[in-house]
Amino acid sequence: MKKLLLTVTLIVCVFMLGGCQSTDSTGNQTGKNNSSTVSQSDKSDTSKQDDKSAVSKSESGVSADNNTSDSTKTLVVYFSRTGEQYGVGNIDKGNTAIVAEMIAEKTGADSFEILPKEDYYPYTYDALTDIAKQELNDNARPEIKGTVPDLSKYDTVFIGSPVWWGDWPMIMYTFFEGNRDALAGKTLIPFSTHAGSGLSGFDSKLSGACPDSTVGTGLAISGTDAQNNQDSVRESVNSWLSGLGY
Ligand SMILES: Cc1cc2nc3c(=O)[nH]c(=O)nc-3n(C[C@H](O)[C@H](O)[C@H](O)COP(=O)(O)O)c2cc1C
Repeated sequence: MKKLLLTVTLIVCVFMLGGCQSTDSTGNQTGKNNSSTVSQSDKSDTSKQDDKSAVSKSESGVSADNNTSDSTKTLVVYFSRTGEQYGVGNIDKGNTAIVAEMIAEKTGADSFEILPKEDYYPYTYDALTDIAKQELNDNARPEIKGTVPDLSKYDTVFIGSPVWWGDWPMIMYTFFEGNRDALAGKTLIPFSTHAGSGLSGFDSKLSGACPDSTVGTGLAISGTDAQNNQDSVRESVNSWLSGLGY
């Protein structure tokens, strides 16, 4: 246990000391924006906090209904940030959003992007880490924008976010706790993007927050790979999904 704590602390220290360097923990070249064509407004000006609401797909945040038959009852729920991110410079599409989209494409799932009701998260990396640390210390539960979809329609919910300070971002606990009853009896499958911490205990933390759900095998993807090595990330995602029966 001491060893595990030491490892997580070391990773967090290294990632903080490293700031937005030009290489990630796997040695990949970074600093490039992704080339995704998904239509989002231009958020390259990291000071434009108000622009962030433009990321929302709809008031509810639910994307196009991909569940075209009763046999597909899968939802992908994710939280992800654009702007300046670790090792990738300013990004127009969040690392986790890229992975979430791959999962939805492969499984035919619907998607729901968790957005904060009051968007006070900065688009500069250092400022964001400060606010996230404060939220962690306060055990905050930031409010979620819009309406969470009717979860009774789904059997399986993929749930993903960046690792923030070795944990789920606090807004994810808002989702878990606020929907604990609706998620009971369902299979929840966690995924993360990160800068070295891997899944960071997302699975056990999710089990703790939603004890009446079954938590499946999770997947951790390097954030810089999500931006810069999408072919190989897609392979990893597809192979993981195939192991889960998709
Ligand atoms: C506030 C904050 C805290 C972070 N903490 C960690 C961490 O503890 N371990 C880690 O590996 N990466 C950490 N990262 C890096 C992110 O997990 C990584 O860049 C992720 O891919 C960002 O995904 P997103 O673009 O979907 O938000 C942190 C990033 C931020 C902004």
